[in-house]
Amino acid sequence: MSSNPADSAVIFPAHHPERDSVGDFRADVLKGLSARPKTLPSKYLYDEIGSGLFEKICELPEYYLTRTELKLLRRHGAEMAAMIGRDCLLIEYGIGSGLKTRLLLGHLTDPVAYVPVDVAHPQLRESAATIRRDFPHIVVRPVCADFTTFSRLPDVGASSARRVVYFPGSTIGNFTRPEARQLLARAALLCGPNGGLLLGVDLKKHPQILEKAYNDRQSVTAAFNLNALARVNRELQATFRPDQFWHYAPYNPRHGRVEMHLVSRSDQQVQVAGENFSLAEGESICTEYCHKYSLRDLHELTRGTGFTIERTWLDENKYFSVSYLAVRRR
Ligand code: TRP
Repeated sequence: MSSNPADSAVIFPAHHPERDSVGDFRADVLKGLSARPKTLPSKYLYDEIGSGLFEKICELPEYYLTRTELKLLRRHGAEMAAMIGRDCLLIEYGIGSGLKTRLLLGHLTDPVAYVPVDVAHPQLRESAATIRRDFPHIVVRPVCADFTTFSRLPDVGASSARRVVYFPGSTIGNFTRPEARQLLARAALLCGPNGGLLLGVDLKKHPQILEKAYNDRQSVTAAFNLNALARVNRELQATFRPDQFWHYAPYNPRHGRVEMHLVSRSDQQVQVAGENFSLAEGESICTEYCHKYSLRDLHELTRGTGFTIERTWLDENKYFSVSYLAVRRR
């Protein structure tokens, strides 16, 4: 932990609804379960148990994404850092184990500040403390917020530094095209005229490889998906029986995405926060989309967002991409 306790405080933007995170969670879950087809918002997959399971997913033999992105960072980190430039202010959308962040920060020349933005408070606190310990010269200011609506940087005393958003892990794939576009447009505004974005995106490939990545033999991904129900039980006094659901994650080539479902094994009733929901046998609750991009899709995505792709790094199999995007000068 940091030696200066004030320094390790996580910032909760005053105007931000995440301040009432239990209320938000309840409202989002009730809304999703009332929709047709039923959904559960995926940002809630990452409670402490979910985050732990996700770290295991990243090490699975079938889940090539993390391993490949790390390889790209190791191989091309210096080139990425050269594109980003010196003295930058790095903003990260979502936090993971911190491994990629550390690799990137290690390559950058004199970065001045690091602002991780995530809804998961304990994980944010912990990961910020680790970064602070490993990079004592960098100002670290974690912000507990939903990065899809995040628009105001905390004061880091580096107002003139070039702002660069780091958005790894193909998390952009968890949004629909219009949502992803809007997210990029917001990031471009946040970064300003000479800002940038380092974006990690999983690419289209044989559907069998994709399906294996999300249906691993040890069923860790299934446990991760089913934990969504367990979390609703824990936090909203709900009565889901996770053993009454199947994890099902097919690739849909029409939409270019892996779709994560929890399929009801039987006709059943569930109570959530005092409300009743019925599920028919075979009915699904959709928990997540993982969209896959071709390089053309990727260019298309950036159109009209304020960003242009300046450079893309690929592994030898062309499984995964890391791109540097710059805010287009007007
Ligand atoms: N964004 C990553 C991906 O699309 C991580 C992820 C999100 C994920 N939801 C998931 C991984 C569900 C496995 C299962 O792969």
